[in-house]
Amino acid sequence: MELLSLNSMFCMFAASALIFFFSPIIKLFLTSARRKIPLPPGSLGWPYIGETFQLYSQNPNVFFASKIKRFGSIFKTHILGCPCVMISSPAAAKFVLLTKAHLFKPTFPASKERMLGKQAIFFHQGDYHAKLRKLVLRAFMPAALKNKVEDIESLAKDSLQSWEGRSINTYQEMKTFTFNVALLSIFGKDEILYREDLKRCYYILEKGYNSMPINIPGTLFHKSMKARKELAQILAKIISTRRESKLEDHNDLLESFMGDKEGLTDEQIADNVIGVIFAARDTTASVLTWIMKYLGENQSVLEAVTEEQEAIMRLKEESGEDKALNWEDTKKMPITSRVLQETLRVASILSFTFREAVEDVEYEGYLIPKGWKILPLFRNIHHSPEIFPEPEKFDPTRFEVAPKPNTYMPFGSGNHSCPGNELAKLEILVILHHLTTKYRWSIVGADNGIQYGPFALPQNGLPIILSSKE
Ligand code: HEM
Repeated sequence: MELLSLNSMFCMFAASALIFFFSPIIKLFLTSARRKIPLPPGSLGWPYIGETFQLYSQNPNVFFASKIKRFGSIFKTHILGCPCVMISSPAAAKFVLLTKAHLFKPTFPASKERMLGKQAIFFHQGDYHAKLRKLVLRAFMPAALKNKVEDIESLAKDSLQSWEGRSINTYQEMKTFTFNVALLSIFGKDEILYREDLKRCYYILEKGYNSMPINIPGTLFHKSMKARKELAQILAKIISTRRESKLEDHNDLLESFMGDKEGLTDEQIADNVIGVIFAARDTTASVLTWIMKYLGENQSVLEAVTEEQEAIMRLKEESGEDKALNWEDTKKMPITSRVLQETLRVASILSFTFREAVEDVEYEGYLIPKGWKILPLFRNIHHSPEIFPEPEKFDPTRFEVAPKPNTYMPFGSGNHSCPGNELAKLEILVILHHLTTKYRWSIVGADNGIQYGPFALPQNGLPIILSSKE
């Protein structure tokens, strides 16, 4: 009996593996036959695995450059089990993300959707997405962020003080700072009450983000899903405490979600709170890590940034103004802002994004079949020598002239572009102010390498030693 069930299980497994491996190819054949328009040039690599390893195991520029050289700016490939079309021109990115955005829906691996929660903003289009976006933007637009500068500054100062005199892993420490800022923007001053519990669960959850979705005890996915459940329970408690204290004015994302007249369910709120932490933390932390690296390697740029920041400090002291930074101060930092812009370009931490064609789409004489993924390659556009001469050179002065439309998209483009970009810029400028005026740092080790997956990062998270200037 046992043998029989083992046999039948093996047959079922073999059959499903065959379907699994070959279905994209069968579909591909049927799709090509359906329409006369040719598919873009390119290769699909091995069944199922496709060209995933070639893309993720090295500098994505190497993969993109070799493909573009062989096939041109639009080519097909096969990544993470899906047939894809990659596009690398500003015009094509505009077509997919802006002008014909309705033909392409956002798409993520199923495991990500289960962990963040199905109702999170990233996975939606149409009315529900527009409603969420309005609520998220309300909490992250400049008018709302103006009141948060002081609290962000205090988090930045605490972080820097705690690193002083130590050898630290920049990326790991920046992740703690950006996590705390994310919680502050979501829960306001209440953040401190929940920080440790939320941190404990979120840190387990994030370990499973890229795991195989196998939900049996012992797997990473299972542990993450358990932490996800606990996180949702903590959030439910926070929401009910908020409801009881409804008279208070919180001015944060949770208030924006809870105050909506049409109402979001507790589950919708939880999915989107977790989603915002996910979107806000590692992205901003990796950009900060790159800035530390580029400033450490470019002394003249570091001096210019330090002078700009010291001038702001002096001006405040001389005018007898409150010493604390305010929103207007952060608008007087053109050199530091250009360092941020250039870092976003060179590092291009999100090399590309994913969309899926909701119907057969024709672009420049090629067919993008319904169900195929389409990937606008931000990194490739940001590293194009025609658009940014000497693209590998770190040169913030290139942003003294505004880039041409659709050539610079570190925060994406169109109706899924980043609603948190103002917060990201604000927290980066605030911590850089204190970092450059009060501290110096040196990079430990001569390892200039870059690690990939999912973000491009300086090797080992950029170990540094930070010391006070005084
Ligand atoms: C430097 C740091 C950041 C970078 C480079 C970045 C980049 C991006 C990009 C490229 C997208 C669009 C993805 C796509 O079109 O598929 C995006 C979306 C998003 N980002 Fe950011 N982001 C950053 C920080 C933040 C922060 C601090 C928050 C929250 C406060 C945030 C919240 C979001 C959300 C909620 C979305 C989804 C929007 C939607 O689907 O409508 N991001 N981000």
